[in-house]
Amino acid sequence: MLFPLSTLTLLTGYATASQPQRLWPSPQLDALDAARFDQSGFNGNFLMVFTGLDRCDNFLFGGGSTGRSNAADWIRTAYHDMATHNVTDGTGGLDASIRFTAEKSRPENAGDGFNNTFQVLSSVANRYVGFADSLAVAAVLAIENCGGPEIAFRGGRIDAGEPNAPGVPQPQEDLETHIAAFTRQGFTPTEMIGLVACGHTFGGVQHTFFPDIVDELNDPEDMEDVAHFDSTSVNFDNNVAKEYISGSTQNPLVVGFNDTTNSDKRIFGSDGNVTMNSLASSPSLYASTCADLFARMLDTVPHGVQLTDVITPLPVKPANVEFTMANDTMLLGGQVRFWNHTEETAGTVQMLWDDQLGAIGNTTLGFAGAGSATGGKYTSAWYGFDPTGSPFASLSLDPAAGIQRLRFVIDGKLEDQGGVGFAVQDAYMFSESSCLYNSSVSPEGDVTASGRVDIAVRNGVNLTRVYLETVTQDGEGRIVIVEIDIPRPEQRIAVNSAYSLWSLNTTSVDEFTIGAEIDGQTYSTTQLRSVLDSDFLPCGV
Ligand code: HEM
Ligand SMILES: *[C@@H]1O[C@H](CO)[C@@H](O)[C@H](O)[C@H]1NC(C)=O
Ligand SMILES: *[C@@H]1O[C@H](CO)[C@@H](O)[C@H](O)[C@H]1NC(C)=O
Ligand SMILES: *[C@@H]1O[C@H](CO)[C@@H](O)[C@H](O)[C@H]1NC(C)=O
Ligand SMILES: *[C@@H]1O[C@H](CO)[C@@H](O)[C@H](O)[C@H]1NC(C)=O
Ligand SMILES: *[C@@H]1O[C@H](CO)[C@@H](O)[C@H](O)[C@H]1NC(C)=O
Ligand SMILES: *[C@@H]1O[C@H](CO)[C@@H](O)[C@H](O)[C@H]1NC(C)=O
Ligand SMILES: *[C@@H]1O[C@H](CO)[C@@H](O)[C@H](O)[C@H]1NC(C)=O
Ligand SMILES: *[C@@H]1O[C@H](CO)[C@@H](O)[C@H](O)[C@H]1NC(C)=O
Ligand SMILES: *[C@@H]1O[C@H](CO)[C@@H](O)[C@H](O)[C@H]1NC(C)=O
Ligand SMILES: *[C@@H]1O[C@H](CO)[C@@H](O)[C@H](O)[C@H]1NC(C)=O
Repeated sequence: MLFPLSTLTLLTGYATASQPQRLWPSPQLDALDAARFDQSGFNGNFLMVFTGLDRCDNFLFGGGSTGRSNAADWIRTAYHDMATHNVTDGTGGLDASIRFTAEKSRPENAGDGFNNTFQVLSSVANRYVGFADSLAVAAVLAIENCGGPEIAFRGGRIDAGEPNAPGVPQPQEDLETHIAAFTRQGFTPTEMIGLVACGHTFGGVQHTFFPDIVDELNDPEDMEDVAHFDSTSVNFDNNVAKEYISGSTQNPLVVGFNDTTNSDKRIFGSDGNVTMNSLASSPSLYASTCADLFARMLDTVPHGVQLTDVITPLPVKPANVEFTMANDTMLLGGQVRFWNHTEETAGTVQMLWDDQLGAIGNTTLGFAGAGSATGGKYTSAWYGFDPTGSPFASLSLDPAAGIQRLRFVIDGKLEDQGGVGFAVQDAYMFSESSCLYNSSVSPEGDVTASGRVDIAVRNGVNLTRVYLETVTQDGEGRIVIVEIDIPRPEQRIAVNSAYSLWSLNTTSVDEFTIGAEIDGQTYSTTQLRSVLDSDFLPCGV
């Protein structure tokens, strides 16, 4: 009889994904796309660098001879964070609650992998891709970059404000308890076998935290005394199943000296080896089963959390689009990504724009660099908006004309999102007339400064608010945005014929972006600035 493990659709290359394409811009979806697909190369995200997932045989927190692996830490953290889920009342799930000491220090969460992963997450999580989403992306990268299948990734997880109820399975528990725990998490007994066999293709059990399961190993290649689940512990493959079925396994949860803690043995054998036999006999069935179960594991979230559609790479994606006012000149900086292209296959790229006066402008873009994802499986080509080819230079434009939307022509083919174009917001922008009154550094190294932030606002637009946004964390460590309103000026201060200034004196040295409410919609700029930046010239000089 066939077992019902894999009624699933395999993702076969993102450029052919059939789901309806989202429209740019969407700050959250564009940031999720960047986290998921702009992994290396030009505009590569920090996740890859800080997670160390560009190398699967290395361990960031101790090096290559520890017996540990980065990929294993990410996958175990994601599972333990999710494993608190209760399908009946919808509590728990993948929500980064394992960062709380109260949850992390429970016996069911023994080990230092949770500290490691959250140390990394604190440098990569952002306002659009929080801790839980970043954890999910990192788990996806760990699987994909270390030999595993592509995982359908959705975003939109919400970071918990408190620990969840306990519920992670432990090796000394009996089979009945494990079946009940996986049922509570939303997985059938067959799926339990699959999920454990998929997770335990990476890593192993460490003596330090499980001295009753693993002895000291005295192996210079395995300094942290990790007894691995299979012979290829830094790679995704079905050896965990093959070695179990063939009887050659060294899995410490199968052949451990104390049978009480041989939980993998009880779980793997719980259906008379039917599931493990099929996973052992077919690497492709193992891969597709794991792709499905890992995606479901990552998508197990508390009731009420609404996940996005599966994130697919936009074929044409502008990024870092930023307007700046420089007196009589309006500057536009940014880059655009062409998915599944190289410099050679993308060739000539032209940018056209519809201005506010009904005319169409154009320029040829310069190649900025190549990007790659999924261990080099996917490539993209980036072009800078500036025709000189410098990716971070800007186009100079007439402020009176402004810009409503961009379009691109790549080797003669128009890319305009089905006619709507790529809408940009020129109603407000940072003005280079912003300036620094003074700054000083105390003997302790604390920097204080006083400056004026000027925002150029287009005359005649319905702009109800403009404010500085700084990123901080609330008492529970969640990322929040603090907004500081910039008052509407009492009388108009013209920058040029089309724009006027709103100004704020500030003694904050924090980095900020600029938010605005226009016709009831909120917008945010992308570039981080601070009064200490070099574009804040001394005031009144
Ligand atoms: C009954 C269920 C499970 C039990 C009892 C169990 C038990 C364990 C134990 C005792 C360790 C050793 C941890 C350490 O030494 O730091 C471990 C490691 C690991 N587990 Fe599980 N596990 C279970 C299910 C899962 C699942 C469902 C996944 C993921 C899908 C998973 C992924 C991992 C990974 C990747 C490691 C290696 C960690 C490392 O080497 O740093 N486990 N598991
Ligand atoms: C990627 O681009 C190449 C040509 O540059 C094309 O042959 C291939 O079909 C594209 N892949 C997908 C999945 O669209
Ligand atoms: C899951 O939630 C239901 C409903 O609140 C509750 O009755 C049950 O005890 C919970 N299960 C566990 C294992 O906590
Ligand atoms: C994790 O970090 C916390 C806080 O730094 C520390 O108290 C705890 O001992 C660490 N846990 C492990 C297992 O290293
Ligand atoms: C086996 O492990 C269980 C659970 O950790 C423990 O209670 C028991 O004493 C162990 N037995 C032996 C012989 O070490
Ligand atoms: C499953 O396979 C293993 C390895 O061949 C064997 O030792 C074990 O007895 C089998 N278990 C069951 C329940 O058939
Ligand atoms: C703007 O004008 C001021 C003087 O009015 C001048 O000092 C400054 O260099 C100008 N800035 C730019 C970018 O042209
Ligand atoms: C680009 O602009 C120039 C004028 O600056 C114009 O002559 C040319 O026709 C434009 N090209 C396109 C494709 O619109
Ligand atoms: C210098 O900055 C301090 C606050 O940082 C402010 O109190 C003081 O007035 C400033 N001085 C001038 C000359 O602007
Ligand atoms: C900022 O401070 C300067 C110097 O104190 C003052 O002249 C100016 O009016 C202030 N501007 C705003 C917008 O508050
Ligand atoms: C400006 O936008 C606000 C917020 O949507 C709206 O209430 C107001 O009616 C608008 N005013 C004009 C003049 O369109």
